[in-house]
Amino acid sequence: MSEPQKKAKIAELKPGIFQLISERPGSHVYLIRGLNKNVLIDTGTASNYPNLTQGLAELGLKPSQIHLIILTHEHFDHIGACSHFFETAVVGAHPLAANKISLQDEFVMMAKYLDVTSQPFRADIWLHDNSVIDLGNYRIRVMHTPGHCSGCICLYESSMKLLFTGDTVLAGGVLSGILGSGNISDYINSLQRLSALQVDEFYPGHGRISLNPRQDLAKALEDSLTHMEECKALFGALDTKSTYEHYFAAIRGQHPGRPAKGDKS
Ligand SMILES: [Fe+2]
Repeated sequence: MSEPQKKAKIAELKPGIFQLISERPGSHVYLIRGLNKNVLIDTGTASNYPNLTQGLAELGLKPSQIHLIILTHEHFDHIGACSHFFETAVVGAHPLAANKISLQDEFVMMAKYLDVTSQPFRADIWLHDNSVIDLGNYRIRVMHTPGHCSGCICLYESSMKLLFTGDTVLAGGVLSGILGSGNISDYINSLQRLSALQVDEFYPGHGRISLNPRQDLAKALEDSLTHMEECKALFGALDTKSTYEHYFAAIRGQHPGRPAKGDKS
């Protein structure tokens, strides 16, 4: 006898806004039912697709009834299942994420890390800072929030004071790390911008939702500033000349201390 199929883990957070929990290591997927269009924020991993379609079916939707997918950034655990929707849904991402997705930039996307192979796809529309997606019942503003990686966006819904944060900040003020194409200075600037918003709840890509966004964003900002100071202390303690010589030599593909032919620098 076959095992009964497990029900998908779904929470309705606000009227028409659902959180679909992915199988690990995938990100959460958020569904927003607009007046006429259905939007997904992220898709989880490629291997999460069966779980995602089951969740959508429990909400009365076929994959072809998803009209728009907004990707919070270019990491595999947020975009892997997107290729399954590409024929029928419009896909949107920040230009710095769209570019990497289009070129299949494995160094940044980590698409082969802990996931099954997914088909290549591209972002149909490049979402810039302050782009607005008007769904009739909800109006979502794109905020470019680089730091975790360069193509990160958060999505702000001002009438309900909701923020979808992707991996930029998790509940409890947890920072999800600085990965390829990210940096701490941009992270600080992004958290400062988010801290200026009126937010009642934020919905991250992983873990629980935040019901204390003000405190959580303040903690994230404080921790990021501490991290910056720790970086400065680290570089202050290093023998920077020899460190940088090794670093730049590695980038140039040279042996340390041996200039390339004709390189007078
Ligand atoms: Fe990420």
